[in-house]
Amino acid sequence: MLRVGVISSHGGSNLQAIIDACGSRRIDARVTVVVSNNAGSGAITRAREHGVPGFVLNSKTHPDPDGLDIAIADVLTDHAVDVVCLAGYMKLLGARTLDRFRNHVLNVHPALLPRFGGRGMYGLRVHEAVLAAGEKTTGVTVHIADASYDHGPVVAQRPGVPVRSDDTPETLAERVLASEHVLYVETLGRIASGEIDLERIAVGATTYREQP
Ligand code: GRF
Repeated sequence: MLRVGVISSHGGSNLQAIIDACGSRRIDARVTVVVSNNAGSGAITRAREHGVPGFVLNSKTHPDPDGLDIAIADVLTDHAVDVVCLAGYMKLLGARTLDRFRNHVLNVHPALLPRFGGRGMYGLRVHEAVLAAGEKTTGVTVHIADASYDHGPVVAQRPGVPVRSDDTPETLAERVLASEHVLYVETLGRIASGEIDLERIAVGATTYREQP
């Protein structure tokens, strides 16, 4: 069974989708720990509602960045995490955590990377850029996270999310978020089944296949 650690700053809807998929046995995985930098986050609330250990780790609990990095890495290790899922985590993970879980830290981005990604491209800004570019469709990406924003090898993408002429960034964000939930759960299921090998993707030995 794949043991998943989720790191999330805000609402935690991706976390909820993953918890639900695990609970219904749709995927052979279990969320063993949740970390958030935000004590008031929906992610921490959802974790506690579902009996998942939740830890608030941030610059207040650990003013020294290295100490925070070690604390995050240790909490993930203590809960025997196989794959770390970033979902709306607004910080960069520290070097120790990235090293200890090398090639096993995933992030979900609300667009089809490499387009509409990188520093500053998060939340509604992504959808504003997609609308400004006049895109007719958009999509979501799950990629291996590294020390740069929205960088790292693509693991899976889900194109085909319609952009409507009357969309606002908010209405588009809502439609894309639903697609994130599907892709993250699907991708974790394929990792759990062995169909996706993150090490091979990380070394470029294989590329992701678009969902049929
Ligand atoms: C969403 O805005 C998503 O696009 C991005 O971060 C946020 C995660 O939302 N990955 P949630 O906390 O999982 O609801």
